[in-house]
Formats: sequence, C-alpha cells, structure tokens
Amino acid sequence: MKNIQIAIDGGAASGKTTAAKGLSRRLGIPVLTSGIIYRAIAFWMIENKIDFDDEKGLALALIKIDLQIIITRDDMRVIIDGYDVTSKLNDNLISKSASIVSKLGTVRNYVNGRIGELVSQSSFIVEGRDIGTVVLPHADYKFFLTASDEVKAKRRQAELLARGETVSFNEIFEQVRGRDKADKEREIDPLKKAQDAIEIDTTKWTAEKVIERMAEYIEL
Ligand code: DC
Repeated sequence: MKNIQIAIDGGAASGKTTAAKGLSRRLGIPVLTSGIIYRAIAFWMIENKIDFDDEKGLALALIKIDLQIIITRDDMRVIIDGYDVTSKLNDNLISKSASIVSKLGTVRNYVNGRIGELVSQSSFIVEGRDIGTVVLPHADYKFFLTASDEVKAKRRQAELLARGETVSFNEIFEQVRGRDKADKEREIDPLKKAQDAIEIDTTKWTAEKVIERMAEYIEL
C-alpha cells in the first residue's frame, strides 16, 4: 500500500501542531513535527557550544551527531547522545535559536534528509514551514494554516504558561511576529504557502472545527 503524506505548514502558533494531532487521532496516521528537529539541533548546538555562524564546523559536527527520532501513534521524541531531550525543546530560548539555525542550508539539508528517511518507511502527517513547497512537493494533501498575530501570541503565551514560563503578552507578540518575519524572509526554503495547498484561517475557529475542515478533504 502507498504511504500517505499530509503536509501542514504555517507560521508560529498558527495551530499546526494541534490540528496535526487531532487529524492524527482521526486518521490513525502519526505526526512528524519538523520544528522539533530544528529545535533539537539548536539545543544540541547550544549544549556543544557550536557557534551559530560557524557553518563549516557545524557541517563537520552534524556528520557525527547521534540523534534518534522516535515516532509513535501519538508522540514524537528526540534522543541525543542517548538522552531524551524532547521536554527541553519548547523553551523560549530554543524557539528563538531554532529560527536562527533554520536559516542554515547545512541544517535544512540534515533535517530534510531525516524527514526523507522517515516518510519512505511509513505514512505521516508532516508539519512545518516548507513541507508542501520543498520537502514533500508531491504530498497527497497540503494545508497551510494562518491566524492573526494577536491570536497566535495568545496561544503561545498560554502554551508557555502551561509550562511555567511567564512572559508578557507584548514580548510574546513581538517574538511571534519577529519569528514569522525571519521565517518568511530567509533565503533558503522560506515559510510560504504551496500553490496547491488549502489555506485555513484558524483565527476564529476552534481546533475541532479546523480538524473537521481538514478531514473533509481527505479520502483514504
Ligand atoms: O514549528 P516550530 O515553532 O516548532 O519551529 C521552530 C523553528 O524551526 C521555526 O521558527 C523555523 C524552523 N522550522 C523551519 O525552518 N522549517 C520547518 N519545516 C519547521 C521549522
């Protein structure tokens, strides 16, 4: 049977992860969140004191990185050098750092290579910024989620609060906007809607409604 590929792209806090998880429960297809891999690389670079500007050193170090990606029906975990680092990847510092390192071609090639390996083995809902445009241009279904900056900042603030991080609304608002701007304007594989993607504005919708709308398009 052919592996199914569902691409979900969108900016920071556009509702991708919630939508991907809900769709996953409905369809029984696991989620591959590409942002987690970018975050893991940023975390590993910080831990190993690899300069964000040293792309040559990074390329050499990446050859030896021991990074395992474990995806189950309802979870994705990243193990680096034998340690599960998944719970450390949602901090604000890592969000900012991931956006910076994701500009590097070396990092993007590495991440895309890992995604390629996984999708060749099984069906996946793949979530990110450039999945429908670059990573899986022939995906069976493509969605592009958007939301207003205010709603995105509120969602991100709630997410951080749930993790015990208190950051002011204004600071988060600027961060989310700044990250989206950087992701849209970067030279390599920027955040962009694929021409054939279905765009869904999630600003006024509940997660359930977004998932319902997406499911309407999918025939398995
Ligand atoms: O989806 P996220 O917020 O966890 O992603 C963190 C950063 O990783 C995001 O700011 C940009 C980068 N990223 C990317 O460049 N391409 C992807 N496909 C996914 C994430």
